[in-house]
Amino acid sequence: MKAVIIERYGSPDVLQYADIEKPSVTGDRLLIKIYASSINPIDWKLRQGMLKVITGNKFPMILGFDVAGEVVEVGANITNFKTGDGVYAYLNPVPGGAYAEYVAVSERFVSLKPSNLSYEQAAVVPLAATTALQALRDTGEIKKGQKVLINGAAGGVGTFAVQIAKAYETEVTAVCSAKNVELVKSLGADSVIDYTQQDFTKDTEKYDIIFDVVGKRSFSECKNNLLDRGIYITLLPSPDIILNGFLTFLIPGKKAKLFVAKANDKDLAYLKELIEANKIRPIIDRIYPLSQIADAHRYSEEGRTVGKIAIAIE
Ligand SMILES: NC(=O)c1ccc[n+]([C@@H]2O[C@H](COP(=O)([O-])OP(=O)(O)OC[C@H]3O[C@@H](n4cnc5c(N)ncnc54)[C@H](OP(=O)(O)O)[C@@H]3O)[C@@H](O)[C@H]2O)c1
Repeated sequence: MKAVIIERYGSPDVLQYADIEKPSVTGDRLLIKIYASSINPIDWKLRQGMLKVITGNKFPMILGFDVAGEVVEVGANITNFKTGDGVYAYLNPVPGGAYAEYVAVSERFVSLKPSNLSYEQAAVVPLAATTALQALRDTGEIKKGQKVLINGAAGGVGTFAVQIAKAYETEVTAVCSAKNVELVKSLGADSVIDYTQQDFTKDTEKYDIIFDVVGKRSFSECKNNLLDRGIYITLLPSPDIILNGFLTFLIPGKKAKLFVAKANDKDLAYLKELIEANKIRPIIDRIYPLSQIADAHRYSEEGRTVGKIAIAIE
């Protein structure tokens, strides 16, 4: 089968379009013919070797966590899926394996795909939307009527976070640059702050949840903007979050929390319900063919993606 592999860490040039052996299916796995995938920033962080402590030096490596495709074979112990099902998946463990024509995956990471989405649209959902859902629901303990600020509202996780926070009937303030103001409003944001004109940490407005999706404002900078029992969530490790995560865990009041997403089938099934109920929709900035994935990485690394980058697998 065709796949994109890396045989060393480095620039986008290390991504090679290659022929490799098609995976085979064992008892508790199903084989998916992949029609589409997507780029997440963790893909190029892995490619650069930033997570070498986890990934080691076992090459070749196939990157990519998001999959949408069709079940073409099922292992003997699979009960929830059959050949021909249209599915989407959030691959686990690191480094994924989605930049390929086929993947063999445990059903614990797979759900039927939302029926109202194309394969490309479905493929941009798993990692980014699962992250937004779990961060707000499990770490932020989001509740109806709360005030929620999303910093980085125009990107992959942010566009889902705005919509998921609205699905929980909260009042959402979205932070992005001027060119994305209309988009985040169309996703349901009640108010929008253009960070090039206004610094929300200098305002007097206070929130129940501040979700710093892009890791640009620390807990220390945001804590005056949290209500008494408010929760700050970040997706990126830093000395500030390690220290304040520990300190605020010990002391009652405002909390600082570092969140890491966990792939699972139940959250994909719940996101499918939200999508089919038209409560959330994926935003696609660009679609690249798998053979041009190096260009897709270059674009993602610019940090200006609006919504998601999809990968079409011919
Ligand atoms: N811990 C986890 O489990 C986990 C899971 C998913 C993602 N992540 C990490 O979370 C980060 C965000 O992921 P993503 O997929 O959302 O990334 P992304 O799609 O690449 O984010 C791009 C967006 O960031 C916005 N942005 C850039 N600078 C900004 C600033 N100073 N203030 C506000 N917005 C800014 C841009 O909007 P403008 O052009 O409008 O500025 C752009 O739309 C990445 O570092 C990723 O690795 C972690």
